[in-house]
Amino acid sequence: MSTRHSSLLCGLALLAAAGSTMGDSLLTPMEQLGKSIFFDDRLSINSNQSCSSCHGPEAGWTGPDSNVNAGGAVYEGSITGRFGDRKPPSAAYATLSPIFHQDRSGLFVGGNFWDGRATGERLGNPAADQALGPFLNPVEQALPDPACVVFLVCTSSYPVLFEDVWGAAACGIAWPADIETTCATAGGTVVLSADDRTTSDLAYDNIGLTLAAYEDSPEVNAFSSKFDYAKNGMTKLSKQEQRGFSLFKGKGKCRLCHPVSGKEPLLTDFTFDNLGIPQNPGNPAGVAPDFVDPGLGGFLKNAGYPQAVYEEEWGKQKVPTLRNVDLRPAPGFVKAFGHNGYFKSLAGIVHFYNTRDLKSVCPGPYTESQALAADCWPPPEVKENVNREELGDLGLTSEDEAAIVAFLKTLSDGFTP
Ligand code: HEC
Ligand code: HEC
Repeated sequence: MSTRHSSLLCGLALLAAAGSTMGDSLLTPMEQLGKSIFFDDRLSINSNQSCSSCHGPEAGWTGPDSNVNAGGAVYEGSITGRFGDRKPPSAAYATLSPIFHQDRSGLFVGGNFWDGRATGERLGNPAADQALGPFLNPVEQALPDPACVVFLVCTSSYPVLFEDVWGAAACGIAWPADIETTCATAGGTVVLSADDRTTSDLAYDNIGLTLAAYEDSPEVNAFSSKFDYAKNGMTKLSKQEQRGFSLFKGKGKCRLCHPVSGKEPLLTDFTFDNLGIPQNPGNPAGVAPDFVDPGLGGFLKNAGYPQAVYEEEWGKQKVPTLRNVDLRPAPGFVKAFGHNGYFKSLAGIVHFYNTRDLKSVCPGPYTESQALAADCWPPPEVKENVNREELGDLGLTSEDEAAIVAFLKTLSDGFTP
């Protein structure tokens, strides 16, 4: 079950909407502020990286660099040579993930990140919790102290200022004279009075909520794909797309994890699965021969769940939304798919769903194109808990596979009927 908006965000958005004007007309002042923060390169240790550096709208709110996607698919942080070990998932539709929980049957659901660890318990929304992470993550924007983010936001010249949204006192902090140097230094700590620290901590949380408000806005969660228009009867899917849609719901079993029913389906049920995706040989983290990504199991282990619980979740990754999965700035632009970016084509990943359990195991760590050429698949990155019930041998023809890919291409926002 997913709630469309957290009630807090929704209430604030409604309040703000009453005062919204022209300009970025669809955005409320808080959303506009969140947008400024989302695209601001100053908010990183070397003033060279913003959220959009890894979540570009033109690439469906995921990695905007074709060369990076074609290889390791993991992005370098603000500090040269520091990489994350997962592919950036879409920042769009992430606000609609429910707070991380176990449903009545014990299934883990929701949260943000591939492993669900931005649970949403802190700020009431997983995307708001998530948004607090990258600024301080040493392999991302790498600022040394949350107060640095608050300082930079409070001293910005955004069209909508932080105080405009959060009140005149929101930036009332006596900043130390050397703050700019401190914030450009790894390990730096901003020295603040206890009161100022409290104000700064509150502002930092509100920056998370502000970013989540933008991510929750109709500019990001646009629901403006051909698929949406077809659902509303305002356009028609082509014969091939329609066939792909039928296969997606039927023989392909895709809808079991990427649901398509209801008015504005998200194409994810926010559960976790190990599909047995091979290790990405280009992923710098994958260079260590014994590196595996434990996914949900790793998060649960760190969070103190008993071994019997986390072992069953080892290697499972969150089902991503398929909205914008094909959205790219130009036809030749490469996108990467899966948590480690192993797949470089939708045709490749659909073929994998169809034939994973039919082909022989490749003799080495083959890339997607090598595996396709040699008609084999490398072994799964994580061999435990591979889902063998819902994929692996679907009995689809190559026309069926192509039709499913055609359907996936109808999920890009910005369609004009
Ligand atoms: C250096 C690249 C990088 C930067 C900068 C970055 N992200 Fe991410 N983002 C990632 C990666 C990688 C993940 C997945 C990490 C994981 O699952 O452990 C992620 C995950 C997310 C998610 C979770 C989506 C989901 O469905 O679970 C959201 C939302 C998000 N980022 C928003 C942001 C925001 C907001 C910012 C700026 C404050 C930001 N990101 C900055 C790389 C980046
Ligand atoms: C058992 C649940 C399940 C089923 C069934 C399923 N998927 Fe997925 N899908 C997932 C999970 C989980 C991931 C992420 C796996 C990972 O990264 O390790 C994923 C990832 C994807 C991706 C990559 C998206 C991205 O942004 O990286 C595509 C495309 C996709 N699925 C399409 C499909 C299609 C098409 C079908 C039907 C042929 C299908 N899925 C069936 C669970 C499922």
